[in-house]
Amino acid sequence: MTAQNPRKILVTSALPYANGSIHLGHLLEYIQTDIWVRFQKLRGNECHYVCADDAHGTAIMLRAEKEGLTPEQQIARVKAEHEEDFAGFQIGFDNFHSTHSEENRHFSEEIYKACRDKGYIASRSIKQLYDPVKELFLADRYIKGECPNCGADDQYGDNCEACGATYTPAELKNPVSVISGATPVEKESEHYFFKLPEFQQFLREWTRSGTLQEGVANKLAEWLDSDLHEWDISRDAPYFGFEIPDAPGKYFYVWLDAPIGYMASFKNLCDKRGDIDFDEFWKKDSTAELYHFIGKDIINFHALFWPSMLTAAEYRTPTAVNAHGFVTVNGAKMSKSRGTFIKARTYLNHLNPTYLRYYFAAKLGSGVDDFDLNLEDFVQRVNSDLVNKLVNIASRTANFVYKAGGNLTTECAEPDMVADFINAGDQIADFYERREFGRAMREIMLLADRANEYIQEKAPWAMNKEQGRQQEVQDVCSVAINLFRQLITYLAPVLPEIADKTADFLNLDNLDWESRRNILLGHSINKFKPMLPRAEMDKVTAILEETKDELAKETGKTPDGKKDDKPAPQKSDKKDAKKSKNKGPELREDGNEVIADTIEFPDFAKVDLRIAKIVDASHVEGAEKLLQLTLDIGNGETRNVFSGIKAAYQPEDLKGKLTVMVANLAPRKMKFGLSEGMVLAAGPGGEDIFLLEPHEGAQPGMRVM
Ligand code: 2FM
Ligand code: ZN
Repeated sequence: MTAQNPRKILVTSALPYANGSIHLGHLLEYIQTDIWVRFQKLRGNECHYVCADDAHGTAIMLRAEKEGLTPEQQIARVKAEHEEDFAGFQIGFDNFHSTHSEENRHFSEEIYKACRDKGYIASRSIKQLYDPVKELFLADRYIKGECPNCGADDQYGDNCEACGATYTPAELKNPVSVISGATPVEKESEHYFFKLPEFQQFLREWTRSGTLQEGVANKLAEWLDSDLHEWDISRDAPYFGFEIPDAPGKYFYVWLDAPIGYMASFKNLCDKRGDIDFDEFWKKDSTAELYHFIGKDIINFHALFWPSMLTAAEYRTPTAVNAHGFVTVNGAKMSKSRGTFIKARTYLNHLNPTYLRYYFAAKLGSGVDDFDLNLEDFVQRVNSDLVNKLVNIASRTANFVYKAGGNLTTECAEPDMVADFINAGDQIADFYERREFGRAMREIMLLADRANEYIQEKAPWAMNKEQGRQQEVQDVCSVAINLFRQLITYLAPVLPEIADKTADFLNLDNLDWESRRNILLGHSINKFKPMLPRAEMDKVTAILEETKDELAKETGKTPDGKKDDKPAPQKSDKKDAKKSKNKGPELREDGNEVIADTIEFPDFAKVDLRIAKIVDASHVEGAEKLLQLTLDIGNGETRNVFSGIKAAYQPEDLKGKLTVMVANLAPRKMKFGLSEGMVLAAGPGGEDIFLLEPHEGAQPGMRVM
């Protein structure tokens, strides 16, 4: 698709909540989307990229109160911070708006009324827990108490972290409001529901019509085959949001007006610009394309509720919803205590955003797998690909041309090679289009290797010292500069800053995808200036340290681990904060000493207990106590384990038995081979050892909870 036949494309990224900073987890999505959008624009398509802050809800209301601000002040402050962070990473939104806007109120009311008038809204009274002191209804996460199943204390209102039970907040024993500490009371109120079940058939078709990644569609199919529930779209005052038109004191639930924020931001853009037709993109039979980029945790909202509401209100539905996985750092969840819960701002304080944009691109595919940012690999990769391979092509050759007058040769000395580079653009474009950025980067780096081999082989620096070879030097360097131009064109969606610098260096207005076909001949270039310094591990370390300091400030811990007199850590920080404990008796949060030998739940939760089937068992030559077991732990995975149960069991009696194993025990090298886990047994020892045997019905691979 080229400029002669531009597609009309509207793209969104999920709207960040207006109560927290942008961090690496967010950035994966914004960078992924931004790359795709820049690619579409460079291809000559009409592409608009809109986003907004997700400004409503109880959390934002409470946060504002805590900060002594009005919600409006709070969201304005966060919006400015978010916009600065996004600009820092060169996220090129065409518009960044807010869900707390007149446009959003307008569309939220309109869509709601359309649903209501068509009979898709139900209302009924429901009972919920209510904070009599704060005078507000409590969402599950604002209630804590004892688990009705195992009695563990300090559990949230929806599920128990200790035993995994799920329940309603009303079932918690001794519940307290997290907000005021008061004992909640049950109170009834009228709620409004969107009748999602009426869209079951529509959703079965829509989710299978190429709008979703296959795995995502399969997952949703499981739900769509069971009963869908009506969706509660209202919340009682006090609530920061939009009042429901015909229901005073009732507000739209934040998740109702959040996706409508996509429309609102686009409308705001249309009004500002004057040359884009809103309806052309949103009317029912629109031929424009609409893409939402989101994290895999919010698929339901985008692939069930949102298309249903749009259909009810006679708007078009998304062309596709593109979900991605979560970011891990060095193989683990981002963690404040390890310093890996890195904020956008903290990163920018130390490192160039180009590195992260490239590393994300280099490892991103179109699926929903989690993304591991391995910090050493990150530094190594950006240096080797961008600094050593890419920029080196120009930095080694440009000066020879510049010093000889700054004009590239009028004839191309390697037309076949340059043609290959130009032709490779079709395959690379296809990878970009399909969000296979990693494959695009690999293809580009192979070309870069080829360019470097060519330069290395010709060695213009050596030729230049020889009499009468000056023309050859110009020929080689002009080819190299042309190859560099091709490569930067292909990388422009990922590296906009480098692309801008290259356009300046090459005296080009832009690096549009199609313009690469015009080889630069007799063209004047400018002096080459360094484009990208090497990434340094020291800077990465500084980021981790700064992130840890932020944690220390938030939790009131000084960097040496001593607590000063500041508020308690937030829930998500507690587990981490504990690990950096100081010497002396450890105190629980309630101030009591921890009894020796107990472990905290997060420590227990690290143990991956699985049902395993003993598919083979044998004696081990030379071993007095051991049997060798082959365990099937589901999904086609088997483990070799040596177990000290020889005195208690004959190998043939074990075959076919189910047992429980620790599946994530680090493998141990034993005299007889590698042991990859441990089976669980009880008893004093010797002949009296009893392998744990789960009930029949348990299947290999099931988790033990
Ligand atoms: O999960 C979140 O961070 C939400 N604020 C995303 C909203 S996306 C859209 F629906 F608005
Ligand atoms: Zn429990």
